[in-house]
Amino acid sequence: MAPNTPNLRALQDRDALAEIIRTLKRINNIKPLLVKIAPDLTDDALRDIASLAESEHLAGLIATNTTLDHSAVPKDSDQQGGLSGQPLRQRSTDVLRILRSATKLPIIASGGIMDATAAQEKLEAGASLVQLYTGFVYKGPELIRDIVA
Ligand SMILES: Cc1cc2nc3c(=O)[nH]c(=O)nc-3n(C[C@H](O)[C@H](O)[C@H](O)COP(=O)(O)O)c2cc1C
Repeated sequence: MAPNTPNLRALQDRDALAEIIRTLKRINNIKPLLVKIAPDLTDDALRDIASLAESEHLAGLIATNTTLDHSAVPKDSDQQGGLSGQPLRQRSTDVLRILRSATKLPIIASGGIMDATAAQEKLEAGASLVQLYTGFVYKGPELIRDIVA
């Protein structure tokens, strides 16, 4: 699947993100605030965001959103926009591991959880919770039964 939000990733630059978080905290200081991260950021940028999340006392992070990397998709079936599902799984887990080593904040894992094995991989990589999107679209509630079995 390929959603498309222009300039979404530019908003994760540390200064831009700090401004968004501070503005949101001025409006809402009650509901837990989590930041969802793109898998296309550099490892240093990921560690930067983890430290910002701690200094801003966020409730947690979500790793990850869709990717701009379409190299796993055959050219004739490729589309524009962020890529979700199986091709995202490995990078998304790598990002989760980097964040886990950089912060003790709760992390929700999202990205390529198409079966129970992938959910287990995320939990072993340090996720506090998992979020299903593409896997749920293709497999429905059966996927949840498999994961909790
Ligand atoms: C059609 C579509 C729309 C999405 N819209 C949003 C959105 O509005 N906000 C958001 O945080 N993530 C959005 N995502 C990202 C998903 O929540 C999820 O993080 C991402 O697809 C990776 O998980 P998956 O591989 O299980 O799909 C969207 C994904 C898809 C495929």
